Amino acid sequence: MSAILRAAVNEVTHVRQYQPGRVVSASKVVDMRSDTVTRPSPAMRKVMAEAVVGDDVYGEDVTVNELERKCAEYFGKESALFVLSGSMGNLLAVMSHCGMRGSEMIVGQQAHMHRWEQGGYAQLAGVSATTLVNEPDGTIALDAIETAVRDGTDFHQPTTQLLCLENTHNYRGGVAITIDYMQKVRTLADKYGFRVHIDGARLINAAVALGVSADKLVADADSVQMCFSKGLGAPMGSILCGDKAFIERARRSRKAVGGGWRQAGILAAAASMALENGVHTVTRDHANAVRLATELNRLASDKFLVNMNTLQTNIIMVQLRSNDAAVLCEKLGAMDPAVLCSPFDADRIRLVTHCDIQDSDIDVVVNAFAKL
Ligand SMILES: Cc1ncc(COP(=O)(O)O)c(C=O)c1O
Repeated sequence: MSAILRAAVNEVTHVRQYQPGRVVSASKVVDMRSDTVTRPSPAMRKVMAEAVVGDDVYGEDVTVNELERKCAEYFGKESALFVLSGSMGNLLAVMSHCGMRGSEMIVGQQAHMHRWEQGGYAQLAGVSATTLVNEPDGTIALDAIETAVRDGTDFHQPTTQLLCLENTHNYRGGVAITIDYMQKVRTLADKYGFRVHIDGARLINAAVALGVSADKLVADADSVQMCFSKGLGAPMGSILCGDKAFIERARRSRKAVGGGWRQAGILAAAASMALENGVHTVTRDHANAVRLATELNRLASDKFLVNMNTLQTNIIMVQLRSNDAAVLCEKLGAMDPAVLCSPFDADRIRLVTHCDIQDSDIDVVVNAFAKL
C-alpha cells in the first residue's frame, strides 16, 4: 500500500514551523507529529452522519445545545460554548475576560497562547501581555506572578485582568499542573482581582495523569478551553466553559470573529462521542507513551534519551545530544515504514501518541530509532 500524506500545519516546532504539502511515500506511515492528526473512526463518522442539526446561530442545533450542557456539567461550570478550535476558544476567553481597553494578561513564555496563536490576544483582542517563564513542571512561579501583577492604580501601567495557564503543558513535554498549584493561584487571583483561564487543549490527559476529575482540576479557574480534536480524536472543535455572563460575552465575540456556525451538530456529535470515550482513549495513549519511551531508552543510544521524569501523558520529548533534530526527523520520515515526528527545538524531537497509534506502531517507531 502506498500512502501520500499532506502534512498539516506543524504547530509545534520553531525549527520548521510549517511543512506545507509535504508528501511521504512509504509502504506504511506512523504519524506521531501530533495528536491533531487523527482521523474520525467509522463509528464517529456514523454518529456525525446521523446527527440531528439546526441553525446554531439561532440556538436551534439540539446536538450542539446538548454538547454544551454536557460539557458545562463535565467541567463543573455554569455554561459552555462550542467553538471551532482551541485558538478560537482561547481568543474568546481573552476577549470575554479583558473587555476594557488598557488590559493586560499574564501568560507563560512557553505557552501555546503566546508562541503559536500568532499573538491573537494582541492582534484581535487588543490586550497586552506580560510573559513569564514556564517552569519545567509547566507552572509559572507564584512569586513571579505576584511581582508582575499591576492593579491599575498607576495610570502609566495597564491593568492585569487575566492569568493564562496551560494544562497539560505542551512545550514542557505534556506535564500536568496540579490542583494544589491551582488552589494557590486562586488565592493570588482573589487577592489581586484578576481572572484565571486554562488553555486545557489536553485537559483530560492532565486529569487522567493526576488521577483527578476534570471538574476538580479546573475548579479554581474562571474558565477553561478544551480541544476535542487532540487526543480525543474528533475532527475539529473545542469547548469553552465558564460562568453564564462570561459565555454570553464569548458568544457575542464568536460571531464577530466569524465563528457563528450553523448546522454544527455534525461536529458536536463527534465531539460528544470523543468526550464519552475520552478517559479510555487517553489512558491507552499514556500507556503507549510509557512503552515507547522505555523501549527508546533501552536502545541505550549515544544520540538520544527520553527523560522519564517529565513523561506524564501522551507527549514524548526525545532529548538529543546534538542539534540536528530537523535532520533526524527528515531521516525518520524518509524510511520505509516512515515515522513522522516533530523537530521541536534544535535538540528535541517530539513524538505524540494518539488514538490512531496501534500497539504495533510502537515497534515500528522503536525500530526506526534503532536504525538512526
Ligand atoms: C496547548 C495547545 N493549546 C491550544 C492549541 C490550539 O488548538 P487549535 O489548533 O485547535 O487552534 C493547541 C494546538 O495544538 C495546543 O497544543
